[in-house]
Amino acid sequence: MAGDRSLQDRVAVVTGGASGIGEAICLRLAAEGARVAVLDVDTAGAQALADRIQGLALTVDVSDSGAVDSAFDELEATLGPVEILVNNAGIATEGNQDRVRERIEQQLAELASGQAPTTTLDATVRMTDEEWNRIIAVNLSSVFFCTRRALRTMQPRRTGVIINMGSICGIEGCTGHPHYSAAKGGVLAFTRAVAKEVIAHNIRVNALAPGFIDTPMARAAGDVVLGAFVPMIPQGRLGTPDEVAAAVAFLASDDASYFVGETMTPSGGFTTV
Ligand code: NAI
Repeated sequence: MAGDRSLQDRVAVVTGGASGIGEAICLRLAAEGARVAVLDVDTAGAQALADRIQGLALTVDVSDSGAVDSAFDELEATLGPVEILVNNAGIATEGNQDRVRERIEQQLAELASGQAPTTTLDATVRMTDEEWNRIIAVNLSSVFFCTRRALRTMQPRRTGVIINMGSICGIEGCTGHPHYSAAKGGVLAFTRAVAKEVIAHNIRVNALAPGFIDTPMARAAGDVVLGAFVPMIPQGRLGTPDEVAAAVAFLASDDASYFVGETMTPSGGFTTV
């Protein structure tokens, strides 16, 4: 239950904690009693949140392994050994994604007028190496970098919880976002492999694959695209960051002691596997 102090004094690291789902996770873990380090590229946002929860803010680009190692060294010197890691930081678009959104909107307009869509997205054929590499680095390589560093602390202590933020895009594949879908699918597979490896050290690793959650990232898709997706969600609405944070709090708690390598999909019924 929110605020029941079940994570009292545990040291938690949340990447991408300055906005959206990450912010809700930081607030929820703090309400459960955890001491939270907010890692984000957004220095001001991370600091403002850390001030609200008496946490620690660190500016770090999680796609930079050296910066990740330094940030963990600093936070552990201040808060103590990391016990909970939430790999949440992510970006959905990089480069010329406005063009893709415009074409999705064009396709929706064609469908709405009863035509078979003739507009093609060409998202994959036009993607640059830079776009691909950045999305993979921020969404997938970062999860490896943070996990590796956290395990160096957790393994000798034989305790720890790691929660990775995937997406339904990593299960379904999201049109126009092949790089993001590949990265998130990679996060889910990485979760399963590492979970099976490190449960021998009493460390539990699990993932979440949320559906459409009402955050700045989702809003960037535009009202037209979001408006087309909402009717396809059986529950008929976007999810809230708090609903995802509640699942994180559960996975972080001892109540989830038999969850190893699982993927939970809070999506209002959009994805049910
Ligand atoms: P958001 O855009 O509101 O927040 C993302 C946060 O990550 C921001 O504070 C941003 O500054 C930070 N960030 C971005 N790149 C970073 C980097 N290189 N290093 C450190 N911090 C960085 O996004 P939202 O919606 O809260 O997303 C959080 C996570 O949930 C992401 O991994 C996203 O892919 C995932 N997700 C979101 C869904 C949605 O519908 N909003 C659905 C499924 C998954």
